Amino acid sequence: MTIFLLIALGYLLGSIPFGVILTRLFGAGDLRQIGSGNIGATNVLRTGRKGLAAATLILDGAKGAVAVLLARQFVPELAEPGAMLAGAAAMIGHCYPVWLKFRGGKGVATLLGLSFALAWPIGLVFAAVWLGTVLLLRISSLGGMVGAVSAPVAALAFGYPAYALGLAGLAVIVLWRHRENIARLRAGTEPRVGSKKQDSA
Ligand code: G3P
Repeated sequence: MTIFLLIALGYLLGSIPFGVILTRLFGAGDLRQIGSGNIGATNVLRTGRKGLAAATLILDGAKGAVAVLLARQFVPELAEPGAMLAGAAAMIGHCYPVWLKFRGGKGVATLLGLSFALAWPIGLVFAAVWLGTVLLLRISSLGGMVGAVSAPVAALAFGYPAYALGLAGLAVIVLWRHRENIARLRAGTEPRVGSKKQDSA
């Protein structure tokens, strides 16, 4: 199997909008009309369905991980760049899915999943920074952004320069996808996890 096929497969896998599918399937409404309108787990949580939010987080993460594992399995000769490209394709698929007219999510969960599959210590740092920030400040978007930026730093520290380069590019996409959150953070209006205000974000 060529890397081009695996990149296409990674994109298609990443473009499955699990948040939208699960909320619709389990009668929780149209996610794009709820809260921030984002298709990720944070917004699914705003429906009040914690189980659906957890499932969305896991499945969106799995998309990135599976894309990386498939590339490792079928194009092992391409090693780090091959795995990185397939994982990146999955994250881009999540952010710009063909099924939703290219209006997708913000990429955090998929980036977390692919980071774990690239090298688990990178994923662990990402998860710890993300979770730590969310627990401390109760702002999901900020946790996701800080976590995403920590991934290339961790990759460099653990001796994976090719991953560091790719993850830095993906972190820039995560920041770009959060530009509305950044504006709200600057204005002091970004909702906190668990606050009632988040419904109208
Ligand atoms: O992963 C998405 C999160 O960082 C922000 O989601 O719905 O608060 O914009 P949301």
